[in-house]
Amino acid sequence: MILLVTGGAGFIGSNFVKHRLQTTDDKMIILDSLTYAGVLDNLKEYLNDSNLLIPKTQDDLLSVTKQIGERLSYAVPDGSAELKRLTSKLEGFNPNYVESDLYDMVKDILKKDKVVFVVANIIDSKTDQALMRLSDVVVHFAAESHVDRSIFDADAFIKTNVYGTYTLLEAAKNVSNLKKFIHISTDEVYGHAIGKSFKEADPLNPRNPYSSAKAAVDRMAYAYHQTYGIPIVIARPSNNFGSNQYPEKLIPVMTIKALKNEPLPVYGDGRQERDWLYVEDTARAIDLLIKSGKIGEAYNIAGNNERENISIVRKILEITGRSEKLIDHVKDRPGHDVRYSIDDSKIKDLGWVQDRDFDKQFEYTVNWYIQNQNWWEKILNKDQEYKAFMKAWYEER
Ligand code: DAU
Repeated sequence: MILLVTGGAGFIGSNFVKHRLQTTDDKMIILDSLTYAGVLDNLKEYLNDSNLLIPKTQDDLLSVTKQIGERLSYAVPDGSAELKRLTSKLEGFNPNYVESDLYDMVKDILKKDKVVFVVANIIDSKTDQALMRLSDVVVHFAAESHVDRSIFDADAFIKTNVYGTYTLLEAAKNVSNLKKFIHISTDEVYGHAIGKSFKEADPLNPRNPYSSAKAAVDRMAYAYHQTYGIPIVIARPSNNFGSNQYPEKLIPVMTIKALKNEPLPVYGDGRQERDWLYVEDTARAIDLLIKSGKIGEAYNIAGNNERENISIVRKILEITGRSEKLIDHVKDRPGHDVRYSIDDSKIKDLGWVQDRDFDKQFEYTVNWYIQNQNWWEKILNKDQEYKAFMKAWYEER
């Protein structure tokens, strides 16, 4: 089977790709634009001199500018910040610049290799279509995913999550070979769960810019199934944790701050609850949806590990051997959802069995950040965009 995985260099995407390559004979086409949270190192063991491709984009939104004289310049809108960002993202790798037909090139590579990585934005419809024509199943992870960033500036969330998903769905309309299109949504589409656990048929009531963009395309995917017959299955996972999570989310942020003996910024009283789902479990649940998910249906993927943020932070301090004095209660996130909780009986009816050893998975995860300092230090030291966001967001708390 050939899978097209969008956002495959991100946290959940890259864990899913690795899981799938280790447990199946699938071939993978990975499509990722390497915006700030996409990290090529996450998949470095699968990348080589011939399977990392940068197509010449033909879409108006990413139009060609050859004047700059650097090879990369034709793949990005101009020679400024975007070019610099991509150049630094590709440092240490040897990409191929595709001037010829992308479809033919990917098809050829897949004859000898299990993986092709295409650096392009899902907003580029011609690339989407070329890759989709080669695929049996699409798993669509690509999204801006950080709630705090969406509160700070929602623009990229509309472009990628809404317009990008729309472009992919449009591309799916023009191919006839797709067996399934798994759209990765989120439990945040329901809004916060006061005194109940949401089921799939409950109304969607998102409460921040990120989740409202995700809710829009959760329903758009459904509508493209109803209207055009696209074989959509929607997954709504809860808060994922595990290795390679970009250091902007609760667990990596707090672990890294603890390791550096810096204050741990807990929003408000820290009594908000999240339902933690191990990223490997998410990957296995998606396997099941690829195999048995009913087309046109949405499925919750719960962690069944509801914890208050403060207890997660205390656990991190315990594992890293740091003092609770580092806890710093800071100004709360605006519109903060106090609790997420979903009912996963629908996916259980498909035969879903979760690995329930939360403590072991949590300890493994924190230790992964302890042991992989190089991975996160590279981001902390080199990613200018990351530095600027962290400074601006946390300085005002
Ligand atoms: O529920 C699924 C969602 O989980 C995904 O759809 C999102 O993409 C993902 O980012 C996550 O959203 P959250 O807002 O729950 O995740 P985050 O790690 O940003 O925050 C988890 C909780 O920790 C939340 O209550 C806010 C709190 N927090 C977070 C950070 C980064 C803090 O108290 N301090 C912090 O510095």
